[in-house]
Amino acid sequence: MGIIDQAMVIDAERLRAETPGCLDGLVHLNNAGASLMAAPVAQSVTDHLALEQRIGGYEAAARQSHLIDAAYQAAAELVGGKTSEIALLDNATRAWQAVFYAMDWRAGDRVVTGHAEYNSNMIAFRHAADRFGIEVVLAGDTPDGELDPAALEALIDERTRLICVSHMPTNDGLINPVEEIGAIARDRGIPFLLDACQSAGQMPLDVEKIGCTMLSATGRKYLRGPRGTGFLWIQSDWIERLSPHVLDIRSAEWVAVDKYRIAGDATRFELWENNVAGHIGLGAACRYALDIGVEDIWTRIRELSGALREQIDALPDFKVQDHGRQRSGIVTFAHKNLAAETIVPRLRHEWSINTSVSTTQLTRTGLIEQGTTQLVRASVHAYNTHEDINRLVEALTALATGRPDQQDKSTGRSNRMGAERAV
Ligand SMILES: Cc1ncc(COP(=O)(O)O)c(C=O)c1O
Repeated sequence: MGIIDQAMVIDAERLRAETPGCLDGLVHLNNAGASLMAAPVAQSVTDHLALEQRIGGYEAAARQSHLIDAAYQAAAELVGGKTSEIALLDNATRAWQAVFYAMDWRAGDRVVTGHAEYNSNMIAFRHAADRFGIEVVLAGDTPDGELDPAALEALIDERTRLICVSHMPTNDGLINPVEEIGAIARDRGIPFLLDACQSAGQMPLDVEKIGCTMLSATGRKYLRGPRGTGFLWIQSDWIERLSPHVLDIRSAEWVAVDKYRIAGDATRFELWENNVAGHIGLGAACRYALDIGVEDIWTRIRELSGALREQIDALPDFKVQDHGRQRSGIVTFAHKNLAAETIVPRLRHEWSINTSVSTTQLTRTGLIEQGTTQLVRASVHAYNTHEDINRLVEALTALATGRPDQQDKSTGRSNRMGAERAV
């Protein structure tokens, strides 16, 4: 079976029918920013908010406690972990920080990471360097641009306390070789914190296979969950080895006037007050992805993003800027003369196509050296179609050649709207 046939396993029509944004003539290619929530997922959030409004927030949480439990179960299932290893939090950064700042950092400790590490993580490394005197070292890349596992291993010494890797960077189609890195981490007995913010919901994840010790994920991106949600997975053996940097009545129990007991499961990284409706929605989003089948989602994303890369590379003066042997649904590209900051708003306002400007910042040192600081990021999901891809390519051609969008005089809408609706 060829890749196109495999991709057809997915019921794209059902996905689109359940995604109201698709029905409005929008081409949403900003799934790496915040994807479009599916209707049943959004409904789970609004239902809970309505219940809070009717019977009270605490009472609603008590009545729907099975949905909150289901969120832990679905998140655990998504990554192949146990429910006791999941903490529901507000985003991927909080999840990542919860464990990073729980390490008892001492001067001279070493963190090994790569050039494609997420910017906020890079800032946290520098922060910890200033506060605790840790050292952060960046492993080199292979000629394909992936983090080089051999280079990473060469940087591990007796001071190394943590390996941190972003699975898929925010601004590159690159996929880092996390299983090879996990094998090294296991072999050397060093905890491995995986930033799976862009890969959760996009490709199948199995923490056992990857060999990571902790994993951070967000709700709103490829999981298609609500904003302001995320989760942490932490391997059982490591839970009691990390003392959270903050405690409250959720993460610990006040057992005597001068005594507290920290929770024995991953809830030690949570706080008592949280976004219950959001977490129910996060659970619904994880379940939605699992029901569709993450493997099928991944097949379809690769097929669509592969087609998009090919078509963009065939356009004069456009160049795809992604690295790696295998590539994700995050497609980044630049035009020789047009700035990303010009292209992205024009795509949105003139063509109803959502993409984003990706600033290279620290995660793209190589490009900065070449003088590139901005890229267009078009991130596809399984509910996108070949028509979406064709429409983007048509729009880019028109923008680059100065051809205006053709408006239908009777409706004032772009002629391309109609074409996009065909699934
Ligand atoms: C690779 C990566 N890690 C972490 C984050 C941070 O996620 P959040 O905004 O949910 O904290 C992002 C967000 O774009 C990301 O792309």
